[in-house]
Amino acid sequence: MSFKSIIIPYLGLISVFLLSCGSKKTTDSNTESDSTKTKTQNTEVMLDVHTFAKPQEAVMTNLDLDIAVDFENKKIKGKAILTIDNKTGTSELFLDSKELKIEKVTLDKDETPTEFKVAPSFESMGEQVKINIKPETKLVNIYYETSPKAEALQWLTPQQTAGKKEPYLFTQSQAILARSWVPCQDSPGIRFTYSAKVQVPKQLMAVMSAENPTKKNDTGIYQFKMPQPIPAYLLALAVGDFEFAKVGDRVGVYAEPSELVAAQKEFADVPKMLKAAEELYGPYEWGRYDLIVLPPSFPFGGMENPRITFATPTIIAGDRSLTSLVAHELAHSWSGNLVTNATWDDFWLNEGFTVYFERRIMEAIEGKEYADMLAYLGYQDLEGELESMGKDNEDTRLKISLKGRNPDDGVTSIAYEKGYFFLRMIEDEVGRAKMDTFLRNYFQKYAFTSMNTERFLVHLKEALPETEKLNLKEWIYEPGLPANCPKIESKRFIEVDKVLTAWQGGKAASELNTKDWSSHEWLYFIRKLPKELSQEKLKELDDAFGFTNSGNSEILAAWFIPAIQNGYAPADAAIEKFLIKVGRRKFLVPIYKALLEAKGGKEKAKVIYAKARPNYHFVAVNTLDEMMK
Ligand code: BES
Ligand code: ZN
Repeated sequence: MSFKSIIIPYLGLISVFLLSCGSKKTTDSNTESDSTKTKTQNTEVMLDVHTFAKPQEAVMTNLDLDIAVDFENKKIKGKAILTIDNKTGTSELFLDSKELKIEKVTLDKDETPTEFKVAPSFESMGEQVKINIKPETKLVNIYYETSPKAEALQWLTPQQTAGKKEPYLFTQSQAILARSWVPCQDSPGIRFTYSAKVQVPKQLMAVMSAENPTKKNDTGIYQFKMPQPIPAYLLALAVGDFEFAKVGDRVGVYAEPSELVAAQKEFADVPKMLKAAEELYGPYEWGRYDLIVLPPSFPFGGMENPRITFATPTIIAGDRSLTSLVAHELAHSWSGNLVTNATWDDFWLNEGFTVYFERRIMEAIEGKEYADMLAYLGYQDLEGELESMGKDNEDTRLKISLKGRNPDDGVTSIAYEKGYFFLRMIEDEVGRAKMDTFLRNYFQKYAFTSMNTERFLVHLKEALPETEKLNLKEWIYEPGLPANCPKIESKRFIEVDKVLTAWQGGKAASELNTKDWSSHEWLYFIRKLPKELSQEKLKELDDAFGFTNSGNSEILAAWFIPAIQNGYAPADAAIEKFLIKVGRRKFLVPIYKALLEAKGGKEKAKVIYAKARPNYHFVAVNTLDEMMK
């Protein structure tokens, strides 16, 4: 590796200048001040505006947790031991916190008491914790507990689980919520190894983004070890009444007992995906690849916690038709977990690469026509996003500026799909063979380090000089979608178009040839329905295809949109049931939006939201509260 990278926090802006003292400061003209980049001889500095840490002075390299999970009081309580690399001999260590109650801090093995200060909360960033240390300090021991409102934690009642008997807890740390359950340096550019001892109620089991148990024990104490260095946003914990089942040699699944067999069947192709992924871009570096199926309030489809993807139960469709989501989270084991976006402004490096990789995995196991469907749907998402954000919106650039904002604002189809099409465009230019060599080398060269957009461009120019003539800067630093965005043709969707035309021409829905359609064809079909549909037409489709009672969450969520827009009352009960049960933000946002825009829908939306809100995770509530205003 030719560079050593360091992440510098926003509030430590002054230190950027200190550090660059004696060296030339260069600022990329396109990226403006927040991506200020300082190059010293062999040290590149990347600025993370969402952390209070000053890793260029003192950085954590290991975390050792000893915590107890208290369901009654909805809190985690214990001790975090941070191993420190004090680079400059500083007397202050800066950490991130969000409403943590810090009881005391001591230094090193002999636990010498020390002073610390917690600054007032600063918007979504939470609080800066300043701890007095010594130049020779190696260990910092923090005794703390979480707030009952800790944003990463969702405490579920037994009623909110499949088994209805035991409570459940899961964490969601990305993007900057790790600091609400662990005092740490919460920046994607700071990596540390970790170990943990976690005490849970005896009838429950715990797993983490680490080496995991496969069986309950009678002490309720579980030990974890994560020997590979990870950024804080990949810290994860789940506690509940779940069991483990084997899927392959390196692959397994955790789920509540009543869902275990279905999950094991649904994920039968995952070992194949893992093999395909390794053949594409090099060895899987994390030991095992397991999944855990969480309760339905999990706010995402999936979260790439290393060694154990956290997944929504809404991907258990019964026919393996939604498992490209697993390919996505698995792909993050390279793009994201191995080579990590240095700051949340570079989020597209995580997600765009992952969508590209996900579709390559799906192509390898299901064929090109299948992957083309995924890409086509992705293009539709991108078009929709550009339309709703406005194509001049600065947030439609790949490299965005989230300074002073919540990094969650950057979670749009731009990072995912514009990112994907950027890489597709490069692939089209250089050819697949070169593209694959490029990506394999990239993951190998930068494994366990962080990457920002500017550094990626430098690497790209070196590795694939023929891309220099492309409009890379336009793609990355300009809003909207460049004219040379690749066009996707999907053979299978052309067939769907024919079926749709036949129906619109008067052929009965029950007569249409929809045999062998996957979820993706159905999704495309529903999205392509005319905007205005009569009650009779909607009923005809519903009777023929059973949309309102579908067991497939993607189909349901898509179907509810025309149903709401056209006031199709027979779907009302199903819509309410879905919104109360499912907490996946990607589904909730368009459904609530449609309700809010429909005639008389606003009241309906508010009534349902009042009932459903207690079931949602903070990240969903945060978005929806804003919409409901
Ligand atoms: N890492 C993301 C989820 C995420 C992003 C959480 C930003 C918090 C902040 C995950 O890999 C993801 O992209 N999930 C998608 C899956 C889909 C694109 C296949 C989701 O949940 O919908
Ligand atoms: Zn992702």
